[in-house]
Amino acid sequence: MAGAQGGWVLTATARSPTNIAVIKYWGKRDETLILPVNDSISVTLDPDHLSATTTVAVSPSFDRDRMWLNGTEISLSGGRFQNCLREIRQRARDVENKEKGIHIRKEDWEKLHVHIASYNNFPTAAGLASSAAGFACLVFTLAKLMNVSEDAAALSSIARQGSGSACRSLYGGFVKWVKGEAANGSDSIAVQLVDESYWNDLVVIIAVVSSRQKETSSTSGMRDSVVTSALLQHRAEVIVPSRILQMEEAIKNRNFGSFARLTCADSNQVINTVERWSQFEGAPQVAYTFDAGPNAVLIAPNREVASLLLQRLLFFFPPPPDTKLEGYMVGDTSILQEAG
Ligand code: ADP
Ligand code: DP6
Ligand code: CO
Repeated sequence: MAGAQGGWVLTATARSPTNIAVIKYWGKRDETLILPVNDSISVTLDPDHLSATTTVAVSPSFDRDRMWLNGTEISLSGGRFQNCLREIRQRARDVENKEKGIHIRKEDWEKLHVHIASYNNFPTAAGLASSAAGFACLVFTLAKLMNVSEDAAALSSIARQGSGSACRSLYGGFVKWVKGEAANGSDSIAVQLVDESYWNDLVVIIAVVSSRQKETSSTSGMRDSVVTSALLQHRAEVIVPSRILQMEEAIKNRNFGSFARLTCADSNQVINTVERWSQFEGAPQVAYTFDAGPNAVLIAPNREVASLLLQRLLFFFPPPPDTKLEGYMVGDTSILQEAG
């Protein structure tokens, strides 16, 4: 390692947008490597509004790796940060900065420590995929600083080990995370379906209703689902593969009708609507239940509540013309036809 001894610092800064899944990643088959149970598709947002900006500095005067997130120091001891740092360090190459008189040799990187500072320009850990922007940006910036030559696909596979959704933020436009088959995760990578100019009249509106940190992290939420939900396997094996094909077709054809139908079907907003309403002080209790598939069965205790619930649902989810919303009463088996 050559250079003006003692005081030199070399930095790299990058910015990565978040992405919003339209066919969701939910459930892991490998918790350490972060390998998903299904493919997913997302749209990458523009970085002016929802992005992470990360600076990584390296200096011989740093005695350990450290990180600050939104100005507060956080621990790097978790496996996810360590895995990303290790994978990038392994691929580090010679770096020469003539201006500063610095020459870092490939093998020096193992002894050098980094200081990382990252800021999100949107709420962190509040359900807006800060982990996606954050880990994509961390991996990209480390790779820049350490002169890593890997392409975006290889970097996506490293970002995935920080947070699954992060692999999709290495590309703009519409991106698919292919779940892959290999046990070591080598083929679990992001691929760009179309770039950001392809369907550029689409507008994504983010309504930040609450910027509070969510009570259940994505990681533990999906872990619980894998353990407790018998439907998750059916979703991963039957429902999502067909939705992925239809979604790719909708994006290719810029077919908004089909895109919207699939996006809504894959989301769980009905559950949230019902749950929030039921938690509200004084609100009537209602129940929901799902069979395999997106169709919600809602149960209200009486006609008054049923009518309120229907009004609310129709307000939030106006049905397409051919949809039939039906209310059934619980009762005896009714005789539809008298024995003739
Ligand atoms: P979100 O819905 O925001 O993605 P998660 O629970 O999935 O919430 O992830 C939140 C975690 O992501 C944070 O606790 C932190 O570990 C990580 N994270 C968020 N922003 C960044 C960032 N800019 N750089 C690195 N890691 C980040
Ligand atoms: C609902 O990528 O945050 O946003 O891999 O455990 O870090 P970890 O989870 P994360 O989960 C994202 C879940 C989701 C759907 C999606 O982005 O596909
Ligand atoms: Co996340």
